Amino acid sequence: MGTYAVTGSASGMGAAVVARLVADGHTVIGVDLKDADVVADLSTPDGRRTAAAAVLDRAGGVLDGAVLAAGLGPAPGRDRARLIAEVNYLGVVELLDAWRPALAAAQRAKVVVFSSNSTTTMPMVPRRAVRALLERDVPKALGSLRRFGRMAPSFAYGASKIAVSQWVRREAVTPEWAGAGIRLNAIAPGAILTPLLEQQLATPAEAKRIRAFPVPIGGFGDAGQLAAWVVFMLSDAADFLCGSVVFVDGGSDAWFRAGDW
Ligand code: NAI
Repeated sequence: MGTYAVTGSASGMGAAVVARLVADGHTVIGVDLKDADVVADLSTPDGRRTAAAAVLDRAGGVLDGAVLAAGLGPAPGRDRARLIAEVNYLGVVELLDAWRPALAAAQRAKVVVFSSNSTTTMPMVPRRAVRALLERDVPKALGSLRRFGRMAPSFAYGASKIAVSQWVRREAVTPEWAGAGIRLNAIAPGAILTPLLEQQLATPAEAKRIRAFPVPIGGFGDAGQLAAWVVFMLSDAADFLCGSVVFVDGGSDAWFRAGDW
């Protein structure tokens, strides 16, 4: 049985992953704003440092895996674009930087990062914002999104998920990750019925946009099913999975870019 860190453990897909891991007999250290083993705010540098250190302390310096599910959706709001950049991007990469030695110590550790199918289905996400996030320069990323006005949080969301996917693919194959026996992969869900999506559906204009989005099999995904994919990506079956972004999205990614190779 292993020890796993799960961010965003209090709700939605993170909570569903925790339930599955615990049912399988694993030890889970959950990180969230509330109702978690480690209560921390991943939108601040201090919160990220505290979360990283508290998890390492509880794990005794060895982690068999980590799931980075904490995230914010593209809702409107003055500070929302910054929060999205900090939680969805820095809340992944800074924690994984800190946890990498503990993951390496487990020898066959697996990491699953939550990306999104917005990475390939959302048009016009400025590359400059993605590049700035990869440089960990949030003010620069926000500067390049300012021209989008009220829509800035949507593009911050798209940029945060593209950046996190690129980071995963870039790092996964390096001596520090693959070479240290750590499998680093991402999952890219489509619209999954969780509190995050329910919040978006509560706004009529947003609900209309979401329901008009092409999903070939129709409807929304289920958090428990997504959690089953994540647990599979944490299992021995994923020993040969490295730097992959697994789309579980009812066919939207295929619908938009069947010819893209
Ligand atoms: P959710 O809203 O149910 O759960 C997200 C969790 O992250 C919450 O418990 C929340 O408290 C936590 N969180 C947010 N800000 C935080 C902060 N500053 N510090 C610590 N924890 C914080 O969302 P859901 O749907 O389960 O999302 C999980 C991941 O999947 C997110 O990264 C999201 O972007 C991604 N995703 C979700 C999709 C969906 O349709 N639900 C689609 C594609 C990706």
